[in-house]
Amino acid sequence: MTSPARPFSITTPLYYVNDLPHIGSAYTTIAADAIARFHRLQGRPTLLITGTDEHGQKIQRAAEKHQRPPQDYCDEMSGHFQALWQKLLIYPDRFSRTSDRRHQTIVEQFFRRVEAQGDIYLGQQQGWYCVACEEFKEERDLLENRHCPIHSNQAVEWRDERNYFFRLSKYQQALETLYTENPDFIQPSSRRNEVVNFVKQGLQDFSISRINLTWGFPVPTDPDHTLYVWFDALLGYVTALLEPDQEPDLEVALAQGWPISLHLIGKDILRFHAVYWPAMLMSAGLPLPDRVFGHGFLTKDGQKMGKSLGNTLDPWALVETYGPDAVRYYFLREIEFGRDGDFNQTRFINRLNADLANDLGNLLNRTLNMAKRYCQHQVPPLRGSDFPSDHPLKAIGEALEERVPQAYSNLAFSVACEAILELVRAGNKYLDQEAPWSRYKAGDQATVEAILYGVLESVRLAAYWLSPIIPSLSTAIYEQLGFSVNFNDFSSLQVTLGVQDHKCWGILPGGQALGQPVPIFRTLEDLNP
Ligand code: MSP
Repeated sequence: MTSPARPFSITTPLYYVNDLPHIGSAYTTIAADAIARFHRLQGRPTLLITGTDEHGQKIQRAAEKHQRPPQDYCDEMSGHFQALWQKLLIYPDRFSRTSDRRHQTIVEQFFRRVEAQGDIYLGQQQGWYCVACEEFKEERDLLENRHCPIHSNQAVEWRDERNYFFRLSKYQQALETLYTENPDFIQPSSRRNEVVNFVKQGLQDFSISRINLTWGFPVPTDPDHTLYVWFDALLGYVTALLEPDQEPDLEVALAQGWPISLHLIGKDILRFHAVYWPAMLMSAGLPLPDRVFGHGFLTKDGQKMGKSLGNTLDPWALVETYGPDAVRYYFLREIEFGRDGDFNQTRFINRLNADLANDLGNLLNRTLNMAKRYCQHQVPPLRGSDFPSDHPLKAIGEALEERVPQAYSNLAFSVACEAILELVRAGNKYLDQEAPWSRYKAGDQATVEAILYGVLESVRLAAYWLSPIIPSLSTAIYEQLGFSVNFNDFSSLQVTLGVQDHKCWGILPGGQALGQPVPIFRTLEDLNP
C-alpha cells in the first residue's frame, strides 16, 4: 500500500483565517515541527505540512465584518500565520491554502470519485449549526440558551435547507474494523475510546454542501450549492503534497507521498479526522493515514481561554518577549502531550530558569570556562571508548539512545525532555562531586581532563537530543563546543554533523578548539508579555 520512498509526513490542522493565530494553533504547530525535526535528525525524508483553511461562513463573515473582500482578508491573515511560524523557528515544507486555485481541481476530482461510488445524494438538512465550529450540533450537547459547548459565547443557528449529503452511514462497519484492527490509528487511547464510542452509537450521513454561501467552491455537479468547508479543507492535506510548480491532479498529488504518516490535531476536531475523513478516503478508494493524534486543550491560569473572558494568550507577544526556544520548550516540557495543559506566567519563568538557564546553560558555561583555564581551551584529548560503560554520565548518555527516540515517537515530549535533563542534572552533580578545580590545584591533569571531557560530551548529547525542541539553543551549544552545525538549516544538517553518530555518547573530538563561553540563556524576569 505504501511505497518505500514515502517520506515521514506530518500535518497540522489547516487553521481558520477568521482571526490572527492564537496560542492553540501555535501549540499544535510547535509540536508538529518538533516531530518533523526529530525525523530529519535521523536523516529520514520528512514533510511538514501546515496551512490555512479559508472558506466557509465563518471566514466570509469575518471578512464582511472587516469590510474586506474575502480573498484579500484571507491573504492578509494567512500571511500572519506564515510570519508567526518563522518567528517560532517553524519551517514547513508545504503551506497549503484552501483558496489556492490548484486546490479546487483536487477537490473536484475527489468529489467525482466519491459521487461515482453513489455516496453523495441530495437531502434536507435540519439542525443547529455553530458557525465558529462550522459544524451541526446535537441539541442534547448544547449549553443553556442554545450556546455551543466549545464556543460558549456563541449561540447556534437553526438551519433547514436542501444540502448534498455524504453517505457516512455506509462506512460504519468499515470504520469499526479499522479501529479494531489498527488500535494505534487514533491516539492517545482516551481519544480512541471517545471515537469508538461515538461510532458505536450509529453514524449519520452528513451534509457536504451549503446554500446561501458564496465563499467556497461550487459543488461540481450543482453550482447552486457551495461545498461544505470541511469537505474542502480536509483535502488540503492532499493538495499540499503537490510540488510548488506542479499542475493540479489528484493522482499526481497522491503519488508525492500519500498517505500521510501522522495527522496532529486538537481534540475538538477529532471526529472530522478519525471518522469523516477516513470514510471519505475509503469512498474514494484511497489509503488511510497511519495515525491521528488528538492533543489536549490549553487553559490560562486554570481557566478556559477566550476573547470574551479577556484572558487570551498572544503567541506573537510571547515569542517577542521570551524568544522562540523558550516558548517551544515550555509548552512541550510542561504539558503532557495529549492531555489538557495550563499556561501560568510564574511556572513559565520558573521552568525556563531552572532547566535552560541554570541546569543546561550553567553547566556548559562553567565547564567551558574550566576547559579554557585547564585545557588550553580545547576538548581534552580523549574519546568515549576511554570511559567505562558504568561511568555515571556515559551510562545515562547511552541509555538516552533508546529512551529519547521512543519518547519522541510516542509524542511524549515532556518524557523526552525529562530524560535528557536527567543527564544534565547528573552532569552538574558530577562536576560538584569531582571538583576538577581542586584536582587541578593538586596537579592531577589527567583526571581534570577526564572530568571535563565527560561533562562537555554530556552537554553536547543533551543539546543534540533537545534540538527538535530548542534548535537555536542547541546550535549555540554546538558552536561553543567547536562545531559548525546549524540545527535550523535542514539542507546542511546531515553534512555538517559528519560521519560521527551524534546520538552516541563519546563522539566529541579530542583536541577540538572550543568556542567562547557565553551564557546561552539569560535568566528570565517575571515580565508580563
Ligand atoms: N480549520 C479547522 C481545521 C481544518 S483541518 C483540515 C480548524 N481550525 S482552527 O483554527 O479553529 O483550529 C485549529 C487547531 O487549534 C485545532 O487543532 C484546535 O484543537 C486547536 N486549538 C484551538 N484552541 C485551542 C486551545 N485552547 N488549546 C489547544 N489547542 C486548541 O479547526
